[in-house]
Amino acid sequence: MPTTKGQMVAQSTKIQTLVQDALKEIASASAQIEGVRPPDPERVEHMKELVGQLGTVRGRPLHYPYIGSGVGRGCYVELEDGSVKLDLINGIGIHVLGHSHPRVMAAAMRGALSDVVIQGNLQPNREYYEFSKKILEIASRRSRLKHVWLSTCGAIANENALKACRQKATPARMILAMKSAFAGRSTMMAEITDNPGFRVGLPEYQEVLRIPWFDKHDARSIENSLRIMKEHVAKHENNVSCFTFEPMQGEGGYNVAPREFFLPMLEFCREKKIPVWVDEVQTFTRTGQFFAFETLGIGDYVDVCTVAKTAQTGATFFTQEMNPKPGLISGTFSGSSAALSAGHEILEVLDKENYMGPNGKIQQIHNEFIGMLKRLSETSCRGKLESPEGMGLMIAVTPFGGVKEKVDKLTHALFKNGLICFTCGHGVYRLRFLVPAVITSEDIRCAGEIIEKSISEIA
Ligand SMILES: Cc1ncc(COP(=O)(O)O)c(C=O)c1O
Repeated sequence: MPTTKGQMVAQSTKIQTLVQDALKEIASASAQIEGVRPPDPERVEHMKELVGQLGTVRGRPLHYPYIGSGVGRGCYVELEDGSVKLDLINGIGIHVLGHSHPRVMAAAMRGALSDVVIQGNLQPNREYYEFSKKILEIASRRSRLKHVWLSTCGAIANENALKACRQKATPARMILAMKSAFAGRSTMMAEITDNPGFRVGLPEYQEVLRIPWFDKHDARSIENSLRIMKEHVAKHENNVSCFTFEPMQGEGGYNVAPREFFLPMLEFCREKKIPVWVDEVQTFTRTGQFFAFETLGIGDYVDVCTVAKTAQTGATFFTQEMNPKPGLISGTFSGSSAALSAGHEILEVLDKENYMGPNGKIQQIHNEFIGMLKRLSETSCRGKLESPEGMGLMIAVTPFGGVKEKVDKLTHALFKNGLICFTCGHGVYRLRFLVPAVITSEDIRCAGEIIEKSISEIA
């Protein structure tokens, strides 16, 4: 086959050398980031000014005084004030391989050489093709999923999922969703999200039927949830368009549930021909397998699935029967060329380097991180830190009995002391960590020290 000009650029040794040189420069800056450090006194005012101005421009102050300098190393990130923080939230879950990862940066640069910055669904380039092929191949290993459609974020991936379900079940409109669910920020996803604080002033559409999440303290939790699902379906016979759930709840509190919790509801939906849509926007690549439906062994029940975050773009997967008719879903953007190329590379790294499986790096990180939190909760932080739990790289712990004001205060103390994390949960507020898959034992030890110090400051 004759070579295209695109291949000439992609294979050009001159460009490859330039990219390698750029990566070397970045690597040498990145290598100087040794670990957590306070701001440079001379940069403090500059940072204050940037943060203040950005707050004014946005119309809302930043949650943390965070503006990144553009260089990091693994779990560590440098900010504009010269400080270095241990980043255990990575953009609420985007940077699963941490900061300045050489292979991710190289892939992003290769993508950036494309003739267009953003690729769309009408005119995709090679990066779109390669990313879609790889992610679908992974998704179809333990499921019936056969197609993937790209979009720019989790909320739009979810909108596409809902539209496909509703089209399949037309004219059904009601949605079975869990209590404490989070589905994104579009109008409809704000409705599926079980948090009235996220839709203040919006009209209610009354299209969501709630099912309680698993309660490990209630022996009848599994049958209760199934019963409530059956009651909803009986009341709305032929008017239920789908059952959607996060296989582990994120924003709602890092709530986990065993396979046995989901199975009876999934069997019932199958019997009633109610499409099952699994929202893996946060769980994707994190639970010890690429998909939590694999970790839980429920892939055969999945009709539609959504991902975003660590994929670097949004994606909706469909089985053959759920593939929507032309015209229902589209959208101008599918992702930037750099993001599609980097997303593909992240999948390759995670696929080939022993991250997945019961003995993979993710499970080892989980055990070590949970072990560190448990030790703190039983020793120096006894009574002030409880219930470390989660799946894989999604880990939460409850400080100070889950009292919102104290937990919020703690997150800011942690930030000041060099550790970035976030909160989750309603009623009981928890610290949530989206731990990057590149964290080391030394980093986990450092995180433990900062948590211990910050808790003693707040207590
Ligand atoms: C489970 C889940 N669904 C959907 C979303 C929305 O994704 P995005 O913020 O990319 O629109 C999120 C984001 O946190 C999420 O955690």
